[in-house]
Amino acid sequence: MALDGCNAVVTGGASGLGRALCLELARRGGTVLIADIDADGASETAELVRAAGGSAAIAECDVRQWEQVEALAHRAAAEIGPIDVLCNNAGVAAVGPFEEISLEDWRWCVDINLWGVIYGCRAFLPKMRERRRGYVLNVASAAGLLAPPGMAPYNITKSAVVALSETLHAEYAPHVHVTALCPTFFRTAIMDNARGADEKSSRATKKLMDRSALQAPDVARIALDAVQRGTLYAVPMRDGRMFWRLKRALPQRYYDVLARIFAQQSKR
Ligand SMILES: NC(=O)c1ccc[n+]([C@@H]2O[C@H](COP(=O)([O-])OP(=O)(O)OC[C@H]3O[C@@H](n4cnc5c(N)ncnc54)[C@H](O)[C@@H]3O)[C@@H](O)[C@H]2O)c1
Repeated sequence: MALDGCNAVVTGGASGLGRALCLELARRGGTVLIADIDADGASETAELVRAAGGSAAIAECDVRQWEQVEALAHRAAAEIGPIDVLCNNAGVAAVGPFEEISLEDWRWCVDINLWGVIYGCRAFLPKMRERRRGYVLNVASAAGLLAPPGMAPYNITKSAVVALSETLHAEYAPHVHVTALCPTFFRTAIMDNARGADEKSSRATKKLMDRSALQAPDVARIALDAVQRGTLYAVPMRDGRMFWRLKRALPQRYYDVLARIFAQQSKR
């Protein structure tokens, strides 16, 4: 199978989906370089990968800094060899009504969710193109397809990641494959670190995360299956696929309904 025994780099691998991706790669016999700003969490993931029979190394890396991402690509090649799989997974959420989100929080979200992914692609794709082999998993979100109100920075960064993945999928075919992963909610630490979420919305989001039939290990497995097949869009959850279909079929109706729901919720 294409990913068996692969060399992979996972950004944001210290927690949540990134950790699940590392473990799923280990299950497939992969060697993983776990890149994160959270060194303790990355070490924990590395222990879990080794306990699962895989090989892991860790690298402290802030995906907002081009120099650090570029250094990560060099270090990955030197430490684990040519990279077959890059998972641009590190991400954060900045949410709230448009006018209430500070410009600082906008920049924080754009720097990590968008520039982090651009830097990752820029640093790793040239070698993949040279080798005529490579798989890039860009972790977007269903929010990038559906743009619900009340989370503008998150939506625009994730839709930009979808657009970047579409562009690169076409530019780098047939030897290098790019996949955009667009899940709806599943349980991770993302809301604990989110900016702009009040207690009520944070509680409501966490409830949706807990209720999801698919959790991080399922999302990781589905994502890597899609990567292996060279699928451009991976939309693991049924609700995400259904709303995406609805939006494409009836865009005006879709946003009119969302506007009514948002107005009702804002009144409460
Ligand atoms: N949890 C969900 O419901 C959900 C839904 C759709 C998409 N996603 C996406 O999944 C990805 C992973 O998020 P998660 O839900 O596992 O959250 P998480 O908070 O559990 O994990 C995010 C990881 O990114 C790391 N990180 C944050 N800033 C970083 C930086 N500047 N440089 C390097 N690493 C950094 C964190 O330390 C953490 O380990 C994100 O891109 C997120 O947008 C999550």
